[in-house]
Amino acid sequence: MSQGISMSKLSIKTYGNRVLESKSRKVHTVDKEVKIFVKDMAEIMYEGRGVGLAAPQVGVLKRIIVFDPGNGLMCLINPEITWTRGREVMPEGCLSFPGVELEVKRHREIAVRALDLDGKSVEFKARDITARIIQHEVDHLDGVLIVDRVSRKKLKPIKEKLEELKKLSDKS
Ligand code: NI
Repeated sequence: MSQGISMSKLSIKTYGNRVLESKSRKVHTVDKEVKIFVKDMAEIMYEGRGVGLAAPQVGVLKRIIVFDPGNGLMCLINPEITWTRGREVMPEGCLSFPGVELEVKRHREIAVRALDLDGKSVEFKARDITARIIQHEVDHLDGVLIVDRVSRKKLKPIKEKLEELKKLSDKS
């Protein structure tokens, strides 16, 4: 595959698609192509009524996430979690797992370092829902999914649902 990002026909990849289990690569230059891609990602996220989306969820293995905890759109490029405090279990969904909700344990507070859309380095603290979303999306960049964050016991009640998703998944 080329390094370029195809702008046409971005679609959400669902559980079962191998791209979701792959590790994304760092973005070297925040160029116009990246900016257009981020805009497309945000559109898809809002269309799906999601609060976060990571590039591999649309089949692009680059370390880019977008999210909106309810107070505006944010985009982080090459995000790294540099500090954590506390833990909390909360129900969580994912656009790649339609109809699935799982109780996931995450850090309550984090610090994150990343590049913004201007290519500038930023570092800030986040807590509660914002911290949860960022952790969830950064997991996607490492091929880690909500089903990897819970015990087998918690997966048991949704086993059939997961198999159904796998069957339906667009494997292209
Ligand atoms: Ni997700």
